[in-house]
Parts: sequence; structure tokens; C-alpha cells
Amino acid sequence: MKFVLPRGTRDILPDEVCYWQYVENISMDIFTRYNYREIRTPIFESTDLFNRVIGEQSDIIKKEMYSFQDKGGRDISLRPEGTAPVARAYISNGLNRHSGETKLFYKGPMFRYERPQTGRYRQFHQMGVERINCKHPYSDASVIAMSYHLFSTLGLKNIKILINTVGSETCRPVLEARIKQFLASNLKNLPEHLHEKFEKNPLKILDSKDPSIETYLSGLPDLRDTLSQSSRDHFNLVMEYLDCLNIPFEYSPKIVRGLDYYTETVFEVVSEDLGAQSSICGGGRYNNLIKNIGGKDVPAVGFAFGMERVVMLLQEQGIDIPNRKTHIHIAPLDPLYLLDAAKIAKDLRYAGFSCSIDFEKTDLSYSLKQANKFNASHCIIIGDEEINNKSVTIKNLTTRTQSLIDNNAIIEYLNNETTL
Ligand code: HAM
Repeated sequence: MKFVLPRGTRDILPDEVCYWQYVENISMDIFTRYNYREIRTPIFESTDLFNRVIGEQSDIIKKEMYSFQDKGGRDISLRPEGTAPVARAYISNGLNRHSGETKLFYKGPMFRYERPQTGRYRQFHQMGVERINCKHPYSDASVIAMSYHLFSTLGLKNIKILINTVGSETCRPVLEARIKQFLASNLKNLPEHLHEKFEKNPLKILDSKDPSIETYLSGLPDLRDTLSQSSRDHFNLVMEYLDCLNIPFEYSPKIVRGLDYYTETVFEVVSEDLGAQSSICGGGRYNNLIKNIGGKDVPAVGFAFGMERVVMLLQEQGIDIPNRKTHIHIAPLDPLYLLDAAKIAKDLRYAGFSCSIDFEKTDLSYSLKQANKFNASHCIIIGDEEINNKSVTIKNLTTRTQSLIDNNAIIEYLNNETTL
């Protein structure tokens, strides 16, 4: 019997995992510099939570959730995103007891039943942040600035930050009415699948990937004029802070996001080097979400980025990630010397090196090939002459030179030869 991977999932093999660890470590370092703390929530939650938070009209709820009944008859869904679970956890654990902000970050797998393609999977991974109980426009700007700090530290090139505002809850009907009014005369020409959006969620027409919609949207007036004065002031201040922090961004009225919980600022980080799935990160402000699921009236802002897309971009752009630990391979040339090899390996590992031994085969040319495969910097050879001299031969695999080194001086020698 042959088992295959479920469609839309992938194995992440050791060579690629190095990139994942690099991204995770840098992200966690940056997030902590901004005083965010990690939270881990379950991979599944009640289906109702997502229905309520993400919105019945979103594609995620209508067709992309992995939902099932558990053996106790409960309606459960695999999490399609991290904001709803974090908001739920914030309320259920009473994190709102303390006054002031709560800054959380998370990482882990998410699940959406989408049509798989490069950069789009059914199980994918996000890292994200949620800054809860903050209403000042500086919070929006600071969250966006942190995403820029992160992606530039990773070394990503050609990325753009696109920002927009969707206004407050009260602005929303006015905004939607303006879009409908503008498109009404062309309604019969709009592609069939946009008719439902026109009726129920007209804002979503703006980010439709359907090329034919471009023509009908040209000439759309600046929608910021429909917003309340306080929403306009909020957005202008966000842009002012971003300018003052020297963060490059573009105002992009087509960014409206696929999730319905956003209010005020929304943003995406995109890269043209990624092809069709160009969005590496998305986020924005969500002032009503926590109140809508039974919490206090606390505004919040956050973002999440897709690990797969960031790793793809690092590889695509040929960005080198720092080397892992220096690796030393040990080649005992006789089964009698295995114990000597084991002792040396133990000392090396305690001294901070990564190390491997050929236990199954004592053959120098085989061991040198193995050393190459493991990207070892040096190979330690233990043969008759070495044992008689209480020493080992250390071969530098880059320069191909070798020296006989006393057993007591191995670590000192390797420390000098390598930078740990
Ligand atoms: P989102 O835009 O749905 O936002 O997802 C964020 C990122 O996850 C995307 O920019 C993309 O990189 C990645 N992503 C989404 N779907 C897939 C997929 N099927 N395959 C691969 N990568 C994918 C959210 O999830 C919000 N919760 C973000 C947020 C946090 N807003 C406020 N706080």
C-alpha cells in the first residue's frame, strides 16, 4: 500500500527547516524587542467562534473551513487563522483583568480548504501578533513598522507595504452604499460571481482578482471622503507616524482584506517575486471583535505572515541564512577504536560542536563521503598510528590539509580552526 500526502499539505525537509528556524528565531527576537509575549492556543476551536469572528460572508466561512462533529457531537473546526483563537483566549483567561495593553504573538499551523497552488496550501503556517486594548493610531503604525523591521532584518528585498482604511463600523454602510452606487449602472456586466458580493459585501469587490473588474472600477472616487472625520484623522495620523519612523508604504485603496472583522487601518506586505500569491503578510485594526465575542469593548490591531511564503521568498531571492553549528565527523578506522571515537564525540558536543561518528562502517573513503554529505568542516581520523601516539588526525575538509593532534588538544585545535 502506498500512502501519499493529503492534497494541499507538504513535508518540510531538514534542508528547508533551517530557513524556518531562521525566520522563527528572528521573528521571536524582534517581537520580544517590542514587548510581545508568546501565547499557544489549541489547533481546533468551536466552529461558532470562527463563524462569529470571521463573518458569514467571508470565503473562509462559506467554503474553506475544516469543520466536523467530534465524538461528543460538538461542532469543531481546525483554526483557519490565529486572531479569533487569541481573542477567545484573551477573554477566557481573563487577560483583560490588567488595565493597559496586552501584546501577544503566536506561531503554528492553520487550515483552509483552498485550491492548492504554489504558495497556497490547505495546511500552512503563520506567525502573528495581536496588540489588544490599544486605540491610539501610533499602535497601528508601530505594528506596521515592526513588520517592516522584521522583513528587512530577514534580508527580504523588493517588498512593499500597502495600507488603506475601511473606516469604523458606522462608516461601513456609507462606504458600501458609495461602492454600490458607483457600480450600479454596470451591474449586469459584472462577472456572475461578483453579484453576490455586490449585494452582501460590496467592499470585497475592490480586491477581486478578476481582471475584468478593473475597467468598472476605474474612476471610483476616493472612498476616504465617505469616512467620518475621526476615521480620517486616525488614518492620517497612522500615515504621519509611519513617515516619521521612515517606514516606506503606499496608500492602496484596493486593500480591503479577506476577513470581515477589520475596522480603520488595514495593510498587506506584498512581493512581486512571489507570483500570484504575492501577499506575505496581512493585518489591521479590529476594534469590535473582542466585544462581539463577549469580551470588554477593547480595540486591537495585529498581523500575521505566512511562513511558507516568506521562506519561498528567501530562497527565491538567494538570501543566505547563517550557518548552523560547525560539524565535525569522526572516522574510526577499526571497530576497536569506536569507544575512543565515542569519548571524543562526547567532549566535542559538550564543547558546543555538532558531531557524527561512523559506527557501522570503518572505511576512510566512505567516512570522507559521509563527512561531505553532512557538510562537516573537519574529519577526525582514528587509525593505528593515532592510537599508538594517543592522538588523532584532523583533516580540514576545505583546505584538504591535515595534522596529527594530541588527544588533549583536540578541542583547543578545533576552536582555533573554526569560529563557533
Ligand atoms: P490573512 O491575510 O488571511 O490574515 O493571512 C495572513 C497571511 O497568511 C497571508 O498574507 C499569507 O501569507 C498567509 N496565508 C493565508 N492563507 C494561506 C494559504 N492558504 N497558504 C499559504 N499561506 C497562506 C489573517 O489570517 C489574519 N488573522 C491576520 C491578522 C492578525 N489580522 C489581525 N491580526
